[in-house]
Amino acid sequence: MSGLDDRTPASGAAARLRTLQLQLAPCAAPADGGLSCFEGVQQAPPDPILGITDGFLKDTSPQKLNLGVGAYRTEEGRPLVLSAVRKAERMVVDDATRNKEYIPMGGNPQFCALSAALAFGPDSDCSREGRLATLQALSGTGALAVGGAFLARHYQASKAIYLPVPTWGNHHGVFGSAGLVVRPYRYYHAPTRALDYAGLIADLGAAEPGAIVLLHACAHNPTGVDPSPEQWRGILRVVQERRLLPFFDSAYQGFASGDLDADAAALRLFASARGPGGRPQELLLAQSFAKNMGLYGERVGALHVIAACPQVRGRVESQVKIAVRQMYSSPPIHGAAVATAVMANPALSAEWQAELASMAGRIKAMRAALVAALAEAGAPGSWDHITSQIGMFSYTGLTKEQCIHLRDKWHIYMTLDGRISMAGVSHKRVRYLADAIADAVRNA
Ligand SMILES: Cc1ncc(COP(=O)(O)O)c(C=O)c1O
Repeated sequence: MSGLDDRTPASGAAARLRTLQLQLAPCAAPADGGLSCFEGVQQAPPDPILGITDGFLKDTSPQKLNLGVGAYRTEEGRPLVLSAVRKAERMVVDDATRNKEYIPMGGNPQFCALSAALAFGPDSDCSREGRLATLQALSGTGALAVGGAFLARHYQASKAIYLPVPTWGNHHGVFGSAGLVVRPYRYYHAPTRALDYAGLIADLGAAEPGAIVLLHACAHNPTGVDPSPEQWRGILRVVQERRLLPFFDSAYQGFASGDLDADAAALRLFASARGPGGRPQELLLAQSFAKNMGLYGERVGALHVIAACPQVRGRVESQVKIAVRQMYSSPPIHGAAVATAVMANPALSAEWQAELASMAGRIKAMRAALVAALAEAGAPGSWDHITSQIGMFSYTGLTKEQCIHLRDKWHIYMTLDGRISMAGVSHKRVRYLADAIADAVRNA
């Protein structure tokens, strides 16, 4: 019997001692050259967003408030599974004709068709003309990663991708590790808390011809500041002049306005555009169902590529499939089946859209409540930007020191760039938050 056997008290104690020794020992000692072949591996820094939850969970204060993570919360601060999703899930589970076989590399065809219609409209030119390739993806992040890998391997015009400043933190890592060269373009103008439209146009106008440009389809994360319809037309103009390749990231369709079609307006403007000689605008889209269907952990999304003609679309699709095959072979079936059941069933789809509008409505109401509470708390400065921004987040303008003050004194957790998830705010806690912000602005 080995000394590590835990079946007798004596050997159990020995095993526990050995475990303790392993936990305490610095990874160095033994004469054979070291304890682990991974000794050179450095500790990674905590993820700036997911790390916030770690700190929040360790905090024992009953007052604690997590405004860091971009997931919807109810007025009671709880995660929400939409009623339409619960019903669809039951249908999927009860469907005895379903099995657990692999699905094709491109995913569930019905899910792909419905996702494309949701993004581009039910009768889009690109779909009707056979120029649209759609592949199921591992939520938005997976779609960005597969799209990035495809572009790094097969897009000849440029390997540069321009990202807005600021942007969702993971864009840099996803595209950088795909092999693209990440470059910045101006987006947010801190003094006016508005879009730096002139800076954006100047930077994209100076981008190398053919470069890829990442555009948030709506509800820009982290700023909550979107271009106006007129400004989107200006962005399309410069994209066409420089022959840039737009890569849309749509993680919040329906969350900005509560209306799926309204939130797809910028994307559809580009998707239906024609350039010189009637050449269709080509683009990529990473679409996520994490927020708008509340399917976060199910990892449901799609990558769409609009090509200039069906022949190119076919070749592109074949290469994107190769990227999928090499990364994870084929996507998971359950979440996509649930999303398909919601979108395909008119009653469930209507119920989902009503629930989506209600989530967006609660977030808008929390914006107004926070501005009112800040006024009551006498917080110095103007806070109107909180109601003019849209989507899940507010870019409050709080400094890093003020955010640390909120965390250490008030147990309020947020990213240190001043971004708060409005979904984490409730009527019950809004005055506490406003008092804390007023204190931080005065004293931090
Ligand atoms: C702008 C943006 N893009 C993509 C994602 C990816 O989300 P997921 O991979 O959960 O779909 C997020 C999530 O927060 C996001 O904010």
